[in-house]
Amino acid sequence: MISHRVTQTRPGETREASCLLCGGATTPFLDLGTQPLADRFRSPSDTSAEFTYHLEVGQCGDCSMVQMLHPIERELMFNEHYPYRTSLSSRMSEHFERTAHALVRRADGADPFIVEVGSNDGAVLRHLAVLQVRHLGFEPSSSVARPCADGGLEVIEAFFEERTARDVRERYGPADIIYAANTMCHIPYLGSVLTGADALLAEGGVLIFEDPYLGDIVRFNSFDQFYDEHCYLFSGTSIDVLARSYGFSLVDVERLPVHGGEVRYSLARLGEVAPARRVADLLAHERVHGLHSLDALHGLARRVDRNRRQLLSQLAHCRRQGLTVVGYGATAKSATVCNYVGIDTSMVSRVYDSTPGKQGLLTPGSGIPVVPSAEFGPPYPDVALLFAWNHAQEILERETAFTASGGRWLTYVPEVRLSRLGDVT
Ligand code: SAH
Ligand code: TYD
Ligand code: ZN
Repeated sequence: MISHRVTQTRPGETREASCLLCGGATTPFLDLGTQPLADRFRSPSDTSAEFTYHLEVGQCGDCSMVQMLHPIERELMFNEHYPYRTSLSSRMSEHFERTAHALVRRADGADPFIVEVGSNDGAVLRHLAVLQVRHLGFEPSSSVARPCADGGLEVIEAFFEERTARDVRERYGPADIIYAANTMCHIPYLGSVLTGADALLAEGGVLIFEDPYLGDIVRFNSFDQFYDEHCYLFSGTSIDVLARSYGFSLVDVERLPVHGGEVRYSLARLGEVAPARRVADLLAHERVHGLHSLDALHGLARRVDRNRRQLLSQLAHCRRQGLTVVGYGATAKSATVCNYVGIDTSMVSRVYDSTPGKQGLLTPGSGIPVVPSAEFGPPYPDVALLFAWNHAQEILERETAFTASGGRWLTYVPEVRLSRLGDVT
């Protein structure tokens, strides 16, 4: 099921690989070195060797998909330890409430059935339940699936793939919509997912998913979107090719201003739904801007290296000046930043985070203590390194006292910047 590549490389070594989806030649363009699992926070008393892998990203010359060259086995990432909780962000909770209502409007039948892939802590499902809409979540991480099921939501603790999708079709009947947020890009075996979607969807049904957009990653140099769970970084072009290979067509795209820029893709079986005009517009935009050219991707790699050097020198400068620097948001993304840049406790003493399952533990690889964000208060540190930059608006609105006390926010996308006031965007 999971593709295992024979090529194993070490940082500094690159080798052409074959595409996880179509087998085409895949050219490496970004080497982010040795990395731990980004969501595996460790107890300070855990002295066992930490799992690491080589984080190298390439692009397939045939289907254009940007992908991880050494994907990680799914059970290592998604299990009873998985700590991420969607609903800890109020802005994302609102986004998913609006999404639940939009899905119900889109389903528009007498008794619609909506399936969510990667339902996490029920941020979408709970609204479907309130609306009394038949729903089912696929969620393999028992840390989040169990509490949802215990709370009365319909959730199965399973990975979505062809076999489990067929089972659900037999037991529950066809689905009007299959929806996934920030999950499709986590799944190496997308062929099995699309075959499963074909088996489960009703006639005229749609597969809708939203994930970080390659165009925004290149635009904002957001290299921390590359980590073990993000096996793919999608674009309109790569999703269009993928859809066609499995009898689907890309019928709609919508830019979303969440998580640093995402696109919501809608797929329907070929010929069942007329494509919206904005699909052709996005594909043309990507072509005109050469999003998939190796020039553009190598340009990204150069800017990422520049940001690494600048962040390191900014942190060294803070240390020389005797400034206290903390992290804000123990994001999965921050694992890439800390381990690629080489950030340790001598530069960032602790990281504040609201996730109960991360507090009291150490950040992966870099070993920085995670402390409750409720403790972020006076006496404030001099500088807060904003790892959760994608939640900047929400965080800055809350932490006005830090900013008012003269505290400075350090950010690293699109470039390294130390801001005195709340002018972080
Ligand atoms: N949809 C939520 C959660 C995203 S995190 C949000 O947007 O915030 C990704 C989630 O997908 C995790 O909870 C993980 O356990 C789940 N996941 C990973 N692979 C999956 C698969 N094959 N099928 C269903 N869920 C999966
Ligand atoms: P997020 O950027 O959503 O995703 P990922 O982990 O995939 O990179 O993670 C946000 C993290 O920041 C999460 O651990 C919760 C934390 N957080 C806070 O501590 N305070 C906040 O106000 C918000 C919005 C998030
Ligand atoms: Zn390919």
